[in-house]
Amino acid sequence: MSKPLSLSLRIGLSVSIMGSALVVLIFSQSWFTLRTQLEVIAESKLAQKLGQIEHSVLEAGPASIDEIDPHMVDDLISGHTDMSLMVCNAELSGSPIFTVGLIPAAIENTISCNKNSDFYQKHFDKSGVNSLVAHTSIRIPVSGEAIRLILISDRAEDLYLLAAYRKSTLIAIPIFLIIIGMGAWWIAKRGLAPLNTFRSLTSAVTTSELKGRIECQDLPFELNELADSVNLMLERLEDGVKQLADFSDNLAHELRSPITNLMGKAQVALSKNRTSDQYKETLESCVEELERVSRIVSDMLYLAQTTQADSAASESLSLNKEANHIVNLFNAIAEEKRVRLSVVGDDFILGDKLMIQRAISNLLSNAIRHAPVDSSVPIEIISQSNQAFLSISNSGPGIPTQHLHKIFERFYRVDSGRSRAEGGIGLGLAMVRTIMEFHHGTVTVESDIQGPTKFTLTFRKINHD
Ligand SMILES: Nc1ncnc2c1ncn2[C@@H]1O[C@H](COP(=O)(O)OP(=O)(O)OP(=O)(O)O)[C@@H](O)[C@H]1O
Ligand SMILES: [Mg+2]
Repeated sequence: MSKPLSLSLRIGLSVSIMGSALVVLIFSQSWFTLRTQLEVIAESKLAQKLGQIEHSVLEAGPASIDEIDPHMVDDLISGHTDMSLMVCNAELSGSPIFTVGLIPAAIENTISCNKNSDFYQKHFDKSGVNSLVAHTSIRIPVSGEAIRLILISDRAEDLYLLAAYRKSTLIAIPIFLIIIGMGAWWIAKRGLAPLNTFRSLTSAVTTSELKGRIECQDLPFELNELADSVNLMLERLEDGVKQLADFSDNLAHELRSPITNLMGKAQVALSKNRTSDQYKETLESCVEELERVSRIVSDMLYLAQTTQADSAASESLSLNKEANHIVNLFNAIAEEKRVRLSVVGDDFILGDKLMIQRAISNLLSNAIRHAPVDSSVPIEIISQSNQAFLSISNSGPGIPTQHLHKIFERFYRVDSGRSRAEGGIGLGLAMVRTIMEFHHGTVTVESDIQGPTKFTLTFRKINHD
């Protein structure tokens, strides 16, 4: 496949084609105007001169044809080197009575002037030079003889002028076209120069170098929007790359401690001979650590699958039914802490059953964990025309305001030491957020350091139409 033409060359070519068409049009139009004007001038000059000659001949009052003075007529057309006159009998038969000036080759004989009776006639010689002829008949008053005055204008000079104009035009047009084409190419190249800013920025972009931005104030306004979008895209990329880097840091960090514990326990156990009970004890504590690693890996896998999923089995779900199902699962743990669980209200949403159950259970396990002993954790479902809300509240110390915007990030825990000791890995709320994004809903939190804490899931309602 041939390489497409550069943008400046395309603009240059288009402008030169348009320019050429215009230049050719202008030159042709002026050539036609010039030719018509020269013809009009030649015709009016001829008519005027013929009128003068007729008037002078009649005013001289000759008694017969023979008395017409050729010198008097000669005086009238002297100075007009392009004009000549034939005086003939009325029938135009035989040779002219007399001629004045040089009769052009195109006028071969008097008969050729009589071929048509128009006032103006054109005659062409072999080289294409034309002669314009005007004729009139007059009668000598005394003798009553009729004569024909044939005035001829040789248009060779006009035709030379037109030919010279045409020739100079034909030389000038290609030069104009080259100038127009090169000018257009240069202007287009200069006009497109700001695009180099984009080229140099994008060629410098790498995953480790995403800091560069395009300075919008130096750009023409047509490119400002593009520059803004590129800058926004770079910002999003920078955020994404930073999140990925943080995420892999966190993941490595989270996996390191259980793996270090496992190694430590195994090395201690192997350092000397142990009883079978001691080995059993070591293996049991190793299983605990392995469970934690296994939970991190399975939670990460779940998060990755939910983030990448673009569709899932959607079914109509009763939020009350799903909440009660989770409450039943958590009742035993809640009872241990004397935490009372309750569900009020109901609404229906369209969603993935297992995902919704997981979101509710993540929130409920957090609420039970942070609720003080002998308190209640109500689950409230509120139905609105186009939205459904499910909120889970717990009293007890809440989340300090400065942490609120971060708790939905992966591995983020407000009190990392305490949370880890309680088995938390900081992925629960990240999962809830991903599940809600998948359902085109949101998860929000209201809390402060004194509590209470309320997490709300907002769903788009099913449209029954
Ligand atoms: N109901 C709540 N009351 C007070 N603090 C909460 C509540 N829910 C979450 N938090 C805070 O938000 C942090 C993040 O919660 P998240 O569920 O993501 O992680 P986790 O519970 O520590 O671990 P995981 O859920 O992965 O087992 C928690 O560590 C906790 O500090
Ligand atoms: Mg949690």
